[in-house]
Parts: sequence; C-alpha cells; structure tokens
Amino acid sequence: MTAQVGPRREFDVLVIGSGIAGLAAALAAAGEGRSVAVVSKEGELSECNTNYAQGGIVYRGEGGIELLERDIVSAGCAINFGEAVRVVCEEGPRAIEDILIRKSRVLFDPDGAGGLDLTQEAAHSTRRIIHVKDHTGAAIEKGLLGQAGHVDRIAFFTGHCAVDLITNSHHARLPEERYRPTRVIGAYVFDERREEVSIFFAPRVVLATGGVGNLFLHTSNTPGASGDGIAMANRSGAEIINAEYVQFHPTILYHRDVKRFLISEALRGEGARLMNRRGEYFLEKYNPAMKDLAPRDEVARAIFYEMEATDAGYVFLDARQVSRVDLKTRFPSIARQCREIGIDIAREPIPVVPAAHYFCGGIKVDLSGRTNIPGLYAVGESACTGVHGANRLASVSLLEGLVWGTRAGRDAALSGPAGDDAVRTDIPDWISPRPEEEIDPVLVYQDLHNIRSTMWNYAGIVRNRKRLARALSDFNYLSHRVEKFYRQARLTRTIIELRNAVLTASLIIRAAQANRDSLGCHFVEKG
Ligand code: FAD
Ligand code: SIN
Repeated sequence: MTAQVGPRREFDVLVIGSGIAGLAAALAAAGEGRSVAVVSKEGELSECNTNYAQGGIVYRGEGGIELLERDIVSAGCAINFGEAVRVVCEEGPRAIEDILIRKSRVLFDPDGAGGLDLTQEAAHSTRRIIHVKDHTGAAIEKGLLGQAGHVDRIAFFTGHCAVDLITNSHHARLPEERYRPTRVIGAYVFDERREEVSIFFAPRVVLATGGVGNLFLHTSNTPGASGDGIAMANRSGAEIINAEYVQFHPTILYHRDVKRFLISEALRGEGARLMNRRGEYFLEKYNPAMKDLAPRDEVARAIFYEMEATDAGYVFLDARQVSRVDLKTRFPSIARQCREIGIDIAREPIPVVPAAHYFCGGIKVDLSGRTNIPGLYAVGESACTGVHGANRLASVSLLEGLVWGTRAGRDAALSGPAGDDAVRTDIPDWISPRPEEEIDPVLVYQDLHNIRSTMWNYAGIVRNRKRLARALSDFNYLSHRVEKFYRQARLTRTIIELRNAVLTASLIIRAAQANRDSLGCHFVEKG
C-alpha cells in the first residue's frame, strides 16, 4: 500500500525521541506552558538505550566539581569543551535531585547511613555514581515517563518514525523562501501502523534520537540506534562534529544466543578483573597504574590485542574475587541473565567481548542545545556538546542528557516567535513515488549487513588508513544505490533507517579519515 497523507499537526515544540534527553526536554518545555509532541519510532516509549543503562549516573563524590571535571577531561584526552564540562558538573547534582529524585521519584539505592550508595567505574578517581542496582536506566525511564504522563500539554506518538526535518528553504514551494535564512519548522513523520506520513509543524524541534551503535555488527545498543537524527540534521544543513569518536564498551556478554547484553563496568568497579583465555589477568601489562579501571578505550584495545594473541573470540570477566558486595543482590539483572545461560557469576568467569556502545560525536550544539540551524535543537547522545571529547567517562551520558535536555527544552519554550502560518500552508504534503517498488527484504537486509560489517571491520576498535579508504569507497557506491532505492520504494521504517544508516556511517568514516591523530576512541594504526 502507498504511504498515505496523514493529518497536519501543530505544536509549540516537537521532540523526536523518548529517552532521558527527549523526556527532560519535553518536561522542561511543557513546564514553561508550551504544547509538546514527543514522537518515538518504537511501539513502546521506553524502548531506547536509556532503558538499558546499567551502571548509574554521576552524582557527587569526594573532590567535588573540580575532580570530576579533571576526570572527564582526562578520559576525553583533553579535547573537551571546558565550558560544557563545567555546566554538566555544576548543574548535574541539582538536576538529579529535582527532576529524578523529587519529581520522578527514582529510588536510588541507599548507602545504609542516610545517603545514597556510591559506586565506581573506570577512570573515575573516586566513588560518585548513584545507581538502582544494575538497572538504573530502567528506573530513570520509568520515573520520567510517569512524570511526563501526568502532563496534559505533552502528547505522545509511538510507532512514529521521523523521516526528515522540514525547513523553509528546502520544502516551501514559494521560491523566495530559498533565499531566506534556513530554519526548521517541523518534520515529516511516518506512522508505521497506519502507513501514513504526517506533518508535525513546530517552530522548535528537538532531536533526541540517541546513538549509532546499530551501524556496527556488534553493539550494546537497541536496534533503533541507527543514527537517524545525525542523518536528518546533516540533510538539513546542521553541523556534525567529532564523528570519528565511537566508544566501544569492553564487556558485552559473549554468547551464541544472547546479543547486546552489557556486563556493567560497575562490576570491575567492585573488583572484577579481566582475564584472557590462558587465565592471565592482563590489564596490568597495558596500564599498570589503573589496571582494570583504565579508560574504556584503553581497556577495549587491550581486549582486542589479547583476543588476537590468544586466538580467541572473547576474554573473561572474573568476578569470583569480589567481596565488597553480594553479587546477586547488587547485580541481579546480570546474575539472572548469566544464570539463564548456565553461568553462576560468583563461581565462574563470564565470557565477554567489546562492542560499539556510545557516540561521542554528534550534532554540534551550544550550551542551550541549539544547532547552527535556527529552530533546531539536539540533545543527548545525538548531540555533541563537547562534554566527552575523544572518549566519554562512564555514567556521564545520562547526566548530560538530563542537563542538556532540560536546558534545551526551556530555551525552546522561551525563545522566539510562534509558528509562521504563511510558510506552513506552503509546505507540500508527503509525496509517495509512483509507481512504488515493492521491497525485497533480502536486499535491504544485505545492505544493512554490509554497512554493519564494514563499520565493524574497517572503522572499529583499531583502524588504519587503508581500511577507512576502502570503507568510504564502498559507502559511496552503496549511498547511490540506497538513495535511488529510497526514492522508488514503498516507505517503511527499515528503508528510512537504511537511508540514515548509510549517511551516518559515511559521516563517521569521513571524519575518521580527516583526523590523522590517533586519540581516545579514534585509534589509527600507523602505516
Ligand atoms: P535514547 O535513550 O537512545 O533514546 C532515543 C530515542 O529516539 C528513542 O525513543 C527512539 O525511539 C527515538 N528515535 C530514534 N530515531 C527516531 C526516528 N527516526 N523517529 C522517531 N524516534 C526516533 N550511560 C550512563 O550515563 N550510565 C550508564 O550506566 C549507561 N549504561 C548503558 C548501558 C547500555 C546497555 C547502553 C546501550 C548505554 C548505556 N549508557 C549509559 C549510555 C546511555 O544509556 C545513553 O547514551 C543515553 O541513554 C542516551 O539517551 P538519549 O535520550 O540520547 O537516547
Ligand atoms: C556500564 O554500566 O558499564 C555502562 C556505563 C556507561 O556506559 O556509562
């Protein structure tokens, strides 16, 4: 069936994405009296990376703001944006107390002495991360959705996949709009169930579409993390920066039947150690000072080299010596998942492997989440605020999403005039190709698989110039084919994601080629 034309809708603020960053933005904008639409391409609002966060969220610890700033910048290889780092450190604790603890009633684990339990993760010089056992993200997502669900001014749309941003200069039929400064005024959104494309008009659009993990063969991310926001922003003329910095998490469960399951770094924070197949604890060799709590990029590379040296597809995480906490009480989800595949984490080492985890780059934004295109904001993992530099410090991502989501939502609500009716009436409805080509799912699957294996093999944990060049030439060819396909095919969510995936993957490769300095999670072998 051809994609039909759906209703035209109007809101003050359109938020694309319902993870921590999108919900924080929606709550802030609605709190200022604005009408807000939150769209998610998933059937459930909670289906997003936020929901699967395990370790926790940075709060307060010894050494205060200064030490936290130092740790973030040290993990980020000192290419972070100092002002942004200061904002997240200064505003974080208050945002947690106000939005998560007071309003969303997230019950972080207590420490038994009237405070909150503080855990440790890699490259943190002190304990400062609060958590809800090992399923912190699910507790946060549930709390935020509970809070937002009570706000009348927020309307939710599930199963709605944004296709493209609408700008006056790209989409208005009036020729003079081409010559006026570009501004974003809404988005075309595909309703998967009704197979129709609606226009969501809003003078302020917030992209909160999350990461890019699914562009890689192995990832901790949900399947929806396909870089849609990065691609949409790029097509509308927004700047993308630091795209070469894709973080690989060192410890994803290695098992034939279980994909994408993270084994939290907090386990190492409590004393678990990485061991190769020969039974040797190897991190000491790579970083004698920090060992298993070295920055993530270093640990992921150490595992990569150990896997090569031992001719193995995995290493082990050994939690048998952990004594500070009761493993099954402190890490119930990890213990349960491992038990299901026959591993008792208190008695046996866990097979693990690194996988694509977090996008440190993204849509360039300022301290209020504004992009270079008026009307367009970006927050959370899809944005690059400069907080993370070349490598993100653990448990800073949820915090950044909360702080920038709130800042951007408020700014979007308080800034500028309302919608521009003259331009709106001039925006055409969605036009479907005629005749439409039926999609052969095998072709689409193979294209997606090509992208994912090319990214994994040529732009993964260890890169070199030859592989990057090959990846770019492969993607140049694939981009043409996919774009042609997109223009002729019946619209589906998969086609939308495929088109975005090839563009975002190409942006990552181009950035990696342009940056000859091996730094943080962009590691390029010599030669
Ligand atoms: P997400 O939560 O990923 O939400 C993205 C939203 O965008 C979804 O609602 C999705 O449906 C929607 N979307 C995407 N494209 C479209 C489209 N085209 N149209 C409509 N909707 C769209 N960070 C920490 O700080 N601490 C942790 O302990 C931690 N643990 C993690 C564990 C795992 C397994 C993973 C995967 C990540 C973890 N992270 C952690 C990272 C952190 O969870 C994410 O960076 C963060 O949750 C991203 O939030 P977000 O709101 O930007 O995006
Ligand atoms: C983890 O729990 O290991 C993930 C933490 C993070 O990505 O910040």
